[in-house]
Amino acid sequence: NDGPLVLGIETSCDETGVGIVRGRTLLANAVASSMDEHARFGGVIPEVAARAHVEAIAPTIERAVADAGVTLTDLDAIAVTSGPGLAGALMVGVAAAKALALSLDVPLYAVNHLVGHVGADVLQGNGLRETHGTVGKLELPTVALLVSGGHTSLLLVRDLVSDVEMLGETIDDAAGEAFDKVARLLGLPYPGGPHIDRVAAAGDPQAIRFPRGLTRPKDLERHRYDFSFSGLKTSVARWVEQREAAGEKIPVADVAASFREAVADVLTAKALAACRDLDVPRLLLGGGVAANARVRALAAERADAAGVELRVPPLALCTDNGAMIASLGAQLVSAGAAPSTLAFGADSTLPV
Ligand code: KG4
Ligand code: ZN
Repeated sequence: NDGPLVLGIETSCDETGVGIVRGRTLLANAVASSMDEHARFGGVIPEVAARAHVEAIAPTIERAVADAGVTLTDLDAIAVTSGPGLAGALMVGVAAAKALALSLDVPLYAVNHLVGHVGADVLQGNGLRETHGTVGKLELPTVALLVSGGHTSLLLVRDLVSDVEMLGETIDDAAGEAFDKVARLLGLPYPGGPHIDRVAAAGDPQAIRFPRGLTRPKDLERHRYDFSFSGLKTSVARWVEQREAAGEKIPVADVAASFREAVADVLTAKALAACRDLDVPRLLLGGGVAANARVRALAAERADAAGVELRVPPLALCTDNGAMIASLGAQLVSAGAAPSTLAFGADSTLPV
């Protein structure tokens, strides 16, 4: 039981996450989500998310503290996501973290949400080992593929505290967003990712050849590690509309499987190209789309073929959560990093 006791707060999107760690040991990971409130809009509504954070933040902090069996006055530091994300949503977490740090007189660390996803990789705790063989050790360098409804990024992490490079990101929609939009098109509920995944299992991934964004030689020159999913989404929409106009029945399972294949193909091809180009023998997955069965399988298959070690944290640490932010905070404390001053604010486009 060593290492600093850190509470982390995450409010960049629709999850109000509060986690508590001691060093690399996970003590609590309380999450409240406003996803249900966004369902009827088919996407996260920033104002609704911010209001939900205001309501959820104090109870979620209380729940995390109770789950961890600590008291607030035991804390050594507070960490909070200051960006990137939805500005109004971020502000709620930032304000709460400042208030806590001030009242407890402990250092405060403003951290980047994407780097937080990487920070989750080292956590160990009850039930985490089964999905993650080398949990607890920080093995670097690593390429990180972070894919959710809000972001799709490829990072090169040489040092979690001082050397994180953004290799590429989506130039339009996030991959999770594409899953949600295509699901809506197919009449599946929101959020659509898990439903597409389920339906696709019974379909033929080769039935329809949907486009792989930014993979033509000309695109690769400028966008080697960038992603694009809006063309894919439009292509699926057009395909479905044409069949509907002709009065044909839509083969939902085949469309879902072919769409899922296109996303998994381009995500894993670019991630492994980065590992190969940069001679990095490790790939970490994070974000809600890391739950996708085909993304996982294809990543495992291609990593294996390339001699790359694939790391996928347990799902509760892949989706947005406070534990990953606490974990990164603990690593900053241990590395002797300077705490943030109270001058920082929410930054919706914070770079890594
Ligand atoms: O990390 P996350 O909870 O953060 C937010 O974006 O808020 O990710 C949610 C996203 C949604 O777009 C959801 O449709 C997608 O992750 N997702 C999936 C799967 N499970 C969740 N996408 C594809 N396949 C899945 N199994
Ligand atoms: Zn995220």
